[in-house]
Amino acid sequence: MEALSPIEKKLLLQLSKHGGKARPEEIEMELVKTMNAVSWLQSKRLVSIEEKLAKEYEITQEGKRFLEEGLPEEKIFDFDGKPVKKIEEKFGKEEAKIIIGWALRKKWCRIVEKNGVKYIGITDEGKEAVKKEMEEKKALKAILDGKPIDEKIANLLKKRRAIKEREKIERKIYLTEKGWDVVKAGIKLEEEVSQLTHEMIISGEWKKKKFRKYDVKAFAPSIYPAKRHPLSQLIEKIRKIFSEMGFKEIKGSYVESALWNMDALFIPQDHPARDMQDTFYCKKPSKIEVDENLIKKIAEVHERGIDGSKGWDYKFDKNESLKALLRTHTTVNTIRYLYMHPEPPAKVFSIERVFRRENIDSTHLPEFHQIEGIIYERGANFSMLKGILKEFYARMGFERIRYRPAYFPYTEPSMEIEVLWNGKWIELGGSGIFRPEVTKPFGIDEPVLAWGLGLERMAMILLGLNDIRMLYWSDMDWLHKLPLL
Ligand code: PHE
Repeated sequence: MEALSPIEKKLLLQLSKHGGKARPEEIEMELVKTMNAVSWLQSKRLVSIEEKLAKEYEITQEGKRFLEEGLPEEKIFDFDGKPVKKIEEKFGKEEAKIIIGWALRKKWCRIVEKNGVKYIGITDEGKEAVKKEMEEKKALKAILDGKPIDEKIANLLKKRRAIKEREKIERKIYLTEKGWDVVKAGIKLEEEVSQLTHEMIISGEWKKKKFRKYDVKAFAPSIYPAKRHPLSQLIEKIRKIFSEMGFKEIKGSYVESALWNMDALFIPQDHPARDMQDTFYCKKPSKIEVDENLIKKIAEVHERGIDGSKGWDYKFDKNESLKALLRTHTTVNTIRYLYMHPEPPAKVFSIERVFRRENIDSTHLPEFHQIEGIIYERGANFSMLKGILKEFYARMGFERIRYRPAYFPYTEPSMEIEVLWNGKWIELGGSGIFRPEVTKPFGIDEPVLAWGLGLERMAMILLGLNDIRMLYWSDMDWLHKLPLL
């Protein structure tokens, strides 16, 4: 009761006055307000509404003439026994055709020919008809009085262009049983305030007011305000987490040389990941020029090693290094950063797109994002690496993670990170400490902790998706209904 608005109360009272049912027009309230109240009361099941499609008629100019001057065929009665010609003379050929046509159709007259002249003869039926009021006129008058007419006569009037037909919806509002209960319990109409204004607060007037109670269970249509795509939201969140942990964001570019994407990371030139099957190589440019000295240094490490390492012991091909490709991981961002900033300390991260020749399926995309990062600091160690990743995933909402030994050509030791999700361990990324073969050529002596984590995999888990492609399908319905992360 207390959650009813004044117009709702008023409508309930009016309905009870009308014995529990009324057309909206019968309610003494503006129609918009009535209908508004109806929709609210309907959702509270206090009223119900019945809608019927009904026909409505409008009398045309022709119809008005029928009423004022009578029907054309009525004129026939003045010509009993007279030649057809007389009618034509009086009303013109056109009109005469209509008069005679309808009179014949109604069997009020017949035409008799005598010595080649046509005469009108009124029939018995005609004589009967004059005495009564015409059906058409009766119906037209009924329309004027707002009374219903039957279908047959309506069709005839339509055909004679005396009326036009329109469809309208007839509504009837009913009090439900629950509605009656509320009415019987007694409805008090009193002024209520639905909104507290700051003027009321300042003047203290609010103390005297009666406030309408909220019905928190009332139906309300869903609205979907603009929001960022879930992946963008997620990236923003990750960015914030790393920034709060003291990291600086770095950016790279999609197209890189094999030297930076692979050679600098001590990935041997015959490594299967470098294969055309796994990496997108560019046609234009097909080559990227790099510093000769750098190539030499890196070639040396690959062929013979550095600082106690034996290298890969094969013939390094410089042309292989120059090949242009779409970066396959963002570790290329961090290694380049180290080259540019060989002095410790450094804590940087990037969240960027990488490319791999993957067949698209429910768990693979040829383009995806990696969350990359490094800590370059005197005394950095493996426990720190584990700690920082644990902290990151904890802040993302993953309570349990585990590490598994792994292998990457550029880190030692290496590990994979898995999270526990719905009772299953899911692999989310790789990490480790850069090998001397990677850091020494750049003059880096302190340990560098590094990681590269998958964004879309994590998004899948957080959003409860079983198909990774959902993230890129732009399914508006799904996006609308998705809660903020
Ligand atoms: N680059 C690796 C990958 O793409 C992840 C990684 C980054 C592993 C840094 C170790 C160190 O899976």
